[in-house]
Amino acid sequence: MAMATSACQALLVLMAAFAAAALVSTASATLQYDFYSSTCPKAEEAVRYATTKIISDDPTMGAAIVRLFFHDCFVRGCDASILLDQSNSNPQPEKLAIPLRGFSAVDTIKAAVEAVCPGVVSCADILAYAARDSTMVSGGFSFPMPGGRRDGAVSNLNDIFGSLPAPNMQVQALVQSFANKGLSAVDLVALSGAHSFGVTHCSFVTPRLYPAVDPTLNATYAAALQQACPQGGAGGTVLNNNNVTDPNKLSNQDYRNVAAGEVLFTSDQTLTSDATTNQMAQDNAANPVAWMARFAGAMVKMGGIQVLTGNQGEIRRVCGATNGGT
Ligand code: HEM
Ligand SMILES: *[C@@H]1O[C@H](CO)[C@@H](O)[C@H](O)[C@H]1NC(C)=O
Ligand SMILES: *[C@@H]1O[C@H](CO)[C@@H](O)[C@H](O)[C@H]1NC(C)=O
Repeated sequence: MAMATSACQALLVLMAAFAAAALVSTASATLQYDFYSSTCPKAEEAVRYATTKIISDDPTMGAAIVRLFFHDCFVRGCDASILLDQSNSNPQPEKLAIPLRGFSAVDTIKAAVEAVCPGVVSCADILAYAARDSTMVSGGFSFPMPGGRRDGAVSNLNDIFGSLPAPNMQVQALVQSFANKGLSAVDLVALSGAHSFGVTHCSFVTPRLYPAVDPTLNATYAAALQQACPQGGAGGTVLNNNNVTDPNKLSNQDYRNVAAGEVLFTSDQTLTSDATTNQMAQDNAANPVAWMARFAGAMVKMGGIQVLTGNQGEIRRVCGATNGGT
C-alpha cells in the first residue's frame, strides 16, 4: 500500500490537530477529543483495529465508510440515522434513497466495540472514528476526531432531498449546500477529494454521456465511459478515479482528474468554473500535504454537524435499529 512518508504523517497529525481543534469549537462546542477516555478507554483502538482489518480484507471498504459518514452528517446531522434499517414502524429510512455500501462493516465495528464496553459508544461516534481510520488506512494520514455524538431515533428518506448535494449541481449550488451545513468552500473542495477512491454506478454517469457527451469531459475519457456504461445498459459501476492511481487509495488525484476533464460528476468538474474554487483545486493538486490537512479539518467539521449530545438521543445497542426497536 502506498503511504505518505512517516515524517509527513507525523507533521500531518500535528497540523490536523490544530486545524481540527480550531474548527470543532465553531461546529460544536460539546464534542470532545478522547471522549471515552474514562468510560471506554479502548473504544478508539477497537474501532481502529476492526476498521483496519475490514479494509485489509476488502480494500474497497475505505471509500464506502468515508461516504457513509458524509451521508450520515449531511442528513439530520451525524446521528447515525443513515444506519437505521427499514422496519414496520419505519418503512422509509434514509438508506433506501441512495446506493451505499459498508453497512455490514459498520455492524462489525460496532460489535467489536460492544465486546469491550457494551452500551457505551454511539453508532454516530463509531462511524466518525471509522471514517477517520479509513482515511488513515486508505489515505496514509490521520488526525484526532472528537467524540460525544448520540444516536438519533429518526431516519426518513424524504430528509435527503434538499440536504444532500446532487452530482449535477454547479459550483454556486454546491457552495450553498455546504454553507447550509456550516461548511465552507474550502471544505467543499477539500472533501471532494474523496472522489479519488471508490466506485460509482453508471446511472450517475450516463446523464453526461447520452444523448450528447458533456463537452467538459475529455473525449477519450468519455468514450471509455460509454464503453463501460452503454446507453440503456444493465447498470454496472465505474471507478471514481479512472484507475489513474490505485482505485482504493484516497489521495489528491481527484484534483488532477478535474484539471484533465476526467471526473465522473459535474459537481467535481464545476469546481474549475469559479476562480476561487479552481484555485483551491489547483492548490490541492499541487500540495498533497496541505490538502491532507484541509481534508482532515473538514472531516472534523463535518463530524460536528447538528450532533446530538449530552442526554439527547441514545446509545444504540445495534446500529441498524433504535433500542426501542424502530
Ligand atoms: C460535493 C458533493 C458531492 C456529490 C454531489 C457526491 C456524489 C457522489 C455520487 C453520485 C457518488 C456515486 C455513488 C454510487 O454510485 O454508489 C459518490 C461516490 C462517493 N462519494 Fe461523493 N459526493 C459528494 C461529496 C462527497 C463527500 C463530501 C465525500 C466524503 C468526504 C464523498 C465520498 C464519496 C466516496 C468515497 C464515494 C465512493 C463510494 C463507494 O465506493 O461506494 N463524496 N459521490
Ligand atoms: C484527453 O485525454 C487523452 C488521453 O489521456 C489525451 O491524449 C488528450 O490529449 C486529452 N484531450 C484533451 C483535449 O486534453
Ligand atoms: C486497474 O488497473 C490495474 C493495474 O493496471 C488492473 O489490474 C485492473 O484490472 C484495473 N481495474 C479496472 C477496474 O479497470
